[in-house]
Amino acid sequence: MSSILSEPFTLPCGVVIKNRIGKAPMTEGLADRWDRPTEALCRLYDRWAMGGIGLSVTGNVMIDHRYLERPGNVVIENEDNLDLLSNWSAAGTKNGTELWMQISHPGRQSPGYITREPLAPSAVKVDMLWVHAKPRALRETEILGIIERFARVANIAKRSGFTGVQLHGAHGYLISEFLSPLANKRDDQWGGNLENRARLLLESVRAIRATVGPNYPISVKLNSSDFQKGAFSEEDSRTVIQWLEKEGVDLIELSGGTYEHMALLDEEGSATATGEKVMSAASARREAYFLDMAQKIRAVSDIPLMVSGGFRTLQGMEEAIESGVTNLIGLGRPLSAEPELPNGLLDGTIEHARISDLDLTLGDNWFSPKSENKRIRHLNSFAEVGWHCVQIDRMGRDLDINWNMSPLTGMLKFFGGGMLKQVLRKHK
Ligand SMILES: Cc1cc2nc3c(=O)[nH]c(=O)nc-3n(C[C@H](O)[C@H](O)[C@H](O)COP(=O)(O)O)c2cc1C
Repeated sequence: MSSILSEPFTLPCGVVIKNRIGKAPMTEGLADRWDRPTEALCRLYDRWAMGGIGLSVTGNVMIDHRYLERPGNVVIENEDNLDLLSNWSAAGTKNGTELWMQISHPGRQSPGYITREPLAPSAVKVDMLWVHAKPRALRETEILGIIERFARVANIAKRSGFTGVQLHGAHGYLISEFLSPLANKRDDQWGGNLENRARLLLESVRAIRATVGPNYPISVKLNSSDFQKGAFSEEDSRTVIQWLEKEGVDLIELSGGTYEHMALLDEEGSATATGEKVMSAASARREAYFLDMAQKIRAVSDIPLMVSGGFRTLQGMEEAIESGVTNLIGLGRPLSAEPELPNGLLDGTIEHARISDLDLTLGDNWFSPKSENKRIRHLNSFAEVGWHCVQIDRMGRDLDINWNMSPLTGMLKFFGGGMLKQVLRKHK
């Protein structure tokens, strides 16, 4: 029995999470043709809840049907589907699980087969594979409209039984684009110095707090750094986290990187501008990618942290909690194929995640994830993500996990299935 992982954790708003294991958000792609929650989503979240996690954060829920991260995202624009959302929350909160809705706008990282004109702080195209069109810079009235939408969706999440919300401010989506001087070239009050670049995030948090009240958990997923020269830096991250603490944010989920530099998955070659590898020796020893960053945040802020990325062993998780650097352990990929892993970790019958025994790369030679070619490295990341997305889809459909599926098959199904879903979508 892992006593330290089984300890409850109390958030600043007073809500108690029953243990220290959180499910990091993972896009599900299981919405119906009208972008609504489905039975498959309920089945999936039921399985995760019964698997023992204390906190379950949903994959990104979108606020505007024109701009998705991926076809199959749930979209909320109004109160039309409260009943379907309530079914989803009822399944995901079983077993005393906290279920938080991740609310997101993809910004320029919305694929070209969904929108030919994504929205962004400035008209700067994302440099990743060949999938994304050049974005259009948002007008100020549109920025204010997005803040309103974030708050409206948070209010609907609360009313339909989700026990908290998380704003997606990481990984190069809209809020993270505003934070980065590389993507945000604006010269108005939404760009320039860090205070201006963080305005969309801070105003959105304030608008959400105003609508959900003081006792409802609000979390922000934030990059510890974008890991790109001239982008959102470690120092920026520490400052923004101190501002978020003052705003009464209950939990920061700490991650890193963007589609351009997939540090979130520890993509090979996700290096800082100085050539330093993302996973430093100390973090590698403790197995999680962003623990060093978390330690530096601890020096300036007491805000509760969930560090996500790289945790695979019971020992690594216990040591991270014992160190006091992180309060919760965020698990993504380990749970896409092994929903009952948390129960096993908590009662000490499982010592490591099964996915760490697999090789989910495209190959050793030309297609190696260590390739000098950035596109090849991206393809490897997408193959791995595709593999996990297919397993998530299978769980939702009550099918067994396909442990023998190759990452190439995962990637083809992921892209092919996504395009087909987009063709079939009714709500475009
Ligand atoms: C299939 C897949 C889907 C993901 N979807 C999201 C998402 O919707 N929102 C988000 O913030 N992060 C998303 N992530 C990132 C994870 O939350 C997490 O930060 C990352 O996988 C690293 O944690 P891990 O090493 O435990 O997998 C996704 C990752 C994967 C593999």
